[in-house]
Amino acid sequence: MIALISLVLAFLAPQAQAVIGGDLNCTTYNGTAFVWTPAATACSNVISDSSCAILYPAPVTADGFPSPGRDQQRPLTCYTTASATPAGIVMDMKKAALDNCPRTCGLCCQTTAYSCSNVAFPRLNCATITSSQCVSAAWRTIIATDCPSACGFCNSGGCVDAVLDCANDVTICRTVGLQDFVNTYCQRTCNRCSSSTITTTSLTATCTSYNADSSTACTAWAANGFCTNTFYTLAQRKAYCARTCRIC
Ligand SMILES: *[C@@H]1O[C@H](CO)[C@@H](O)[C@H](O)[C@H]1NC(C)=O
Ligand SMILES: *[C@@H]1O[C@H](CO)[C@@H](O)[C@H](O)[C@H]1NC(C)=O
Repeated sequence: MIALISLVLAFLAPQAQAVIGGDLNCTTYNGTAFVWTPAATACSNVISDSSCAILYPAPVTADGFPSPGRDQQRPLTCYTTASATPAGIVMDMKKAALDNCPRTCGLCCQTTAYSCSNVAFPRLNCATITSSQCVSAAWRTIIATDCPSACGFCNSGGCVDAVLDCANDVTICRTVGLQDFVNTYCQRTCNRCSSSTITTTSLTATCTSYNADSSTACTAWAANGFCTNTFYTLAQRKAYCARTCRIC
């Protein structure tokens, strides 16, 4: 069905705009053409770039591979078994491309690290975040909270290290003179994010009995993050869902 629809869409699309082949995931319309978004190529390939270039050759050699803001055609084998456009999407081909060469195929935005919702009211514009912001100590923790999909932080639960190499030497987490540093820059590696701290405290608390929940909706609330979201205070959690949240 999806293949049929895309086939019909491909035929209907005006030739001038039908430059990027297959589905238009990881692209945006710039007013005249569909162009690649920054998230299309923000990840690394899983296998080597040179192997990807052989498996997924650029359709127009001079144009090269997908790059943000431009409109290179997506390599055909990234999404179809056909040898010419318009070509229907073959999901197996797309899955193989996602698993092996998401960058070469301009599919990074659909990998698990890049496909999640951003917060409803982010403090910054998620759509314009650049790759240098993704590695900047000044930006990373804000982006992880507000715009996780922009930098591939979807699997990090909002908790990232502000600097990249904390995990090189985890003994810094316990070094007396470095506590201010790791609290600010190595929150993930050293387990200093507020929600993970709260989860850890409440789950490893030593008491064996809890007050009964005063709300009947605690299971649903817990599934929505009531026990871990720092938006709620410990007192609120304890008052409503002490047992479900395991708060002594
Ligand atoms: C993204 O890809 C999926 C599956 O290939 C397709 O159903 C969807 O329409 C695509 N979205 C866009 C915006 O092209
Ligand atoms: C949109 O992208 C196309 C292809 O890269 C480019 O030729 C065109 O100038 C862009 N238009 C705008 C308004 O940026």
